[in-house]
Amino acid sequence: MLSPSRGTYRAAIIGCGGRARAHMPGLKADDRIQIVALSDIRPESSESFASDFALNTRQYTDYKELLEAERPDVVVATLWTALHLPVIRECVRSGVKVILSEKPMAATWGECEEMARLAETSGVVLTFCHQRRFASGNRKVRELLGAGRFGKIERMDLFSPPHLLDCGTHSMDQALSFNSDVPVKWVHGAVDVTETVDFFNVPAEGMFTGMFYWENGVFGTIRTGTVNMDFWGGVRVTGSDGFVEAMWDGQIRRAVVYSEPGWKFPAPEEVPEEQMIGLVKNALDCLESGAEPELSYKKALRANEILFAFYASAERHERVTLPLTGVVGNPFHDMLASGLGKPKGETV
Ligand SMILES: NC(=O)c1ccc[n+]([C@@H]2O[C@H](COP(=O)([O-])OP(=O)(O)OC[C@H]3O[C@@H](n4cnc5c(N)ncnc54)[C@H](O)[C@@H]3O)[C@@H](O)[C@H]2O)c1
Repeated sequence: MLSPSRGTYRAAIIGCGGRARAHMPGLKADDRIQIVALSDIRPESSESFASDFALNTRQYTDYKELLEAERPDVVVATLWTALHLPVIRECVRSGVKVILSEKPMAATWGECEEMARLAETSGVVLTFCHQRRFASGNRKVRELLGAGRFGKIERMDLFSPPHLLDCGTHSMDQALSFNSDVPVKWVHGAVDVTETVDFFNVPAEGMFTGMFYWENGVFGTIRTGTVNMDFWGGVRVTGSDGFVEAMWDGQIRRAVVYSEPGWKFPAPEEVPEEQMIGLVKNALDCLESGAEPELSYKKALRANEILFAFYASAERHERVTLPLTGVVGNPFHDMLASGLGKPKGETV
């Protein structure tokens, strides 16, 4: 076993599926990372992963055995939603320093809160994969908004394919980042169960509409679903002097400054794999500096609190004020359990 030295981190990947493959460019680009082990309940998945990426690693079908035997510094947890908390718990128990988990945090609000407690008490660097914060277009939008290019932000309209928790978390995180991660005051929302979907074994609504209000006076709306979508995934920011529409990955749909009709958005050149490279680099830099990561669990928790508050609002038919209280599970699942809707739509 190689012993860790300052600035070199022994990394393990748990769950060798699609998202693990998406993480590889970021892991390969950072010379502080040395991938030493893989885990997948299906040995053929970790074997083909190791072979495809020419990795000379040990493979485990049981991630607990991996953690016990390898004691990695960094774990990339690319698993379906229900496995996020148990794996994070075991990683913390075995002394992992950095956990890069996939989003969404969890299917219930109680699990999200437990993850935050685990991170707070252990000091582990825990991030969730809202990688789009590192897209150069999104960074440019943040810079221009911060410089007041579109005037004072007045409202944001969020768009996302289904569903609120799995996909909506990207749009909500994007909007929070555009509004300097200011907390939200209240939310109000409604679910449409004309069709329901099942993403990564999390049943959810086919469509959601909501409105919300930030503590700094910005008004927001959100719409998820695929019925008559005019804006697939992203955020429209309306300011007093203009507006900008940024797709999830930072591509600019339209940008207007009212007083300068000829003005064009200064689109930065997109660097290949910049999102995943930024994610890994930032997490390791923050481990070394002690700063809060760009994709910290604290920011993910804030986005998820809003999403669960939306579900609570839909269940209660009430506006819900944050911080969210009285929710442990998933209010939408409670609605399904009480007979609302029938799963019959898309399954991922
Ligand atoms: N950040 C993004 O843009 C983005 C995009 C798509 C999906 N996701 C999220 O990523 C997560 C994973 O999605 P995916 O597409 O990689 O799924 P996947 O099915 O392709 O991969 C999951 C892998 O985990 C393995 N696995 C299952 N149980 C395991 C266990 N106990 N121990 C070890 N391995 C186990 C499976 O065999 C599989 O190989 C989901 O939560 C999803 O919401 C994020």
